Amino acid sequence: MKRIVILISGRGSNMEAMIRARDRGELPGLEIAAVLANRPDARGLETAAAAGIATQVLDHKAFADREAFDAALGEAIDGFQADLVVLAGFMRVLTAGFVRRFEGRLLNIHPSLLPAFPGLHTHQRALDEGVRIHGCTVHFVTPALDHGPVVIQAAVPVLEGDDEAALAARVLAQEHVIYPRAVRWFVEGRLHLENGRVRVDGQQQDGTLQAPLLA
Ligand code: GAR
Repeated sequence: MKRIVILISGRGSNMEAMIRARDRGELPGLEIAAVLANRPDARGLETAAAAGIATQVLDHKAFADREAFDAALGEAIDGFQADLVVLAGFMRVLTAGFVRRFEGRLLNIHPSLLPAFPGLHTHQRALDEGVRIHGCTVHFVTPALDHGPVVIQAAVPVLEGDDEAALAARVLAQEHVIYPRAVRWFVEGRLHLENGRVRVDGQQQDGTLQAPLLA
């Protein structure tokens, strides 16, 4: 069994997608050991507790600085003996020390096709730029914000008349597909970091995109 700890800050829909995938039997060999939040009001905490998963809050406001918070967070994660740490809408910039501590076993999902649109307000920025294709990215975390070796991406069209909410919803539906898939690959031992890139064992090499990568 591989143990994962999921870190959230709010709604927790990606975390919920992970729980549902597990319940459907799509994540064999995976145990969701705990869900941690940096905000006591993170809505996803209730969802996790209702699913019988251990939850813990580390309120970042209670710590003197980033280093102290990240050290406590690292201790909490180690307390759950995590093999993999899954950032799922965890809206905190992590220190380089924290990232190094979990190097190679720290995944994030970001709502854009990185390296386009790192940071916040990705959907509005995509609309403002007039791009035709937008999407989401699962990547290994490095100290640089919203950077790091890409595991999987999903692309969606930007449609005439889209507003931020419509585009965000289209992307989010794909986040819920690709994140459990990336975690499954990790649990199966199929992800290999080589020279700052990810090689996925057994992935099709013929250059075609498989549904639902292009929604
Ligand atoms: C998701 O869209 C995720 O990609 C984004 O926050 C949302 C969290 O939703 N993450 C980031 O912007 C990280 N840079 P959720 O709490 O419902 O999973």
